[in-house]
Amino acid sequence: MKKHHVFIATSLDGYIADAQGSVGFLDTFPMPENDDMGYYAFMEKVDALLMGRKSFETFLSFGVDWPYSKPVFIWSQTLDKIPGALTGKAELVQGTLAEVEALIHDKGFQQLYLDGGQVIQSFLQADKIQTMTITTIPILIGEGIRLFGPLTNQLCFQCTQTKRYENGLVQQVFERVAPSI
Ligand SMILES: NC(=O)c1ccc[n+]([C@@H]2O[C@H](COP(=O)([O-])OP(=O)(O)OC[C@H]3O[C@@H](n4cnc5c(N)ncnc54)[C@H](OP(=O)(O)O)[C@@H]3O)[C@@H](O)[C@H]2O)c1
Repeated sequence: MKKHHVFIATSLDGYIADAQGSVGFLDTFPMPENDDMGYYAFMEKVDALLMGRKSFETFLSFGVDWPYSKPVFIWSQTLDKIPGALTGKAELVQGTLAEVEALIHDKGFQQLYLDGGQVIQSFLQADKIQTMTITTIPILIGEGIRLFGPLTNQLCFQCTQTKRYENGLVQQVFERVAPSI
């Protein structure tokens, strides 16, 4: 069953971070005032987040307050603990995609917000993503961490929404559909 969701920003050439893992390019254009670009409505439809270890570490390096009101699961085979300040907010999960998904489902969370390039690519490989909200920052950065990667099978999506913001950003929502639409 495809029930998970992506909400992410990329460069025009499809990178979610530069070669050093920095996301500074996301701030190239000032964000629209008094507009969350659909983020809170998106968060309403998910039950929990599944974040890759690298995205989690990048987030921690920002030193900002924890922004998530929903449970967050950190997928890692290498971390052995979550910082104490995040007890009750973030939880470590280990194992294969199927094991991690089952563990989170068993805790009562069905629809996940997937965050991190490798996490998203893994779930695309397993064809378990229902929607992708992708905000394109119109900048070419040339190299970095890609949003998309190799797939065993081609996956067809339908663009259900496109919005151009005054600052030049473009946001598109893609829904997974069968090959014939
Ligand atoms: N542009 C945006 O909106 C946006 C959003 C989120 C993140 N980012 C950026 O993206 C970068 C991180 O993305 P990333 O693709 O490098 O890494 P990631 O997906 O955040 O994390 C990768 C790690 O998660 C665990 N993991 C992921 N898939 C797994 C699988 N199938 N099986 C087992 N473990 C798995 C592994 O942890 P272990 O190695 O510990 O086992 C893996 O090394 C950061 O620079 C972050 O700032 C950008």
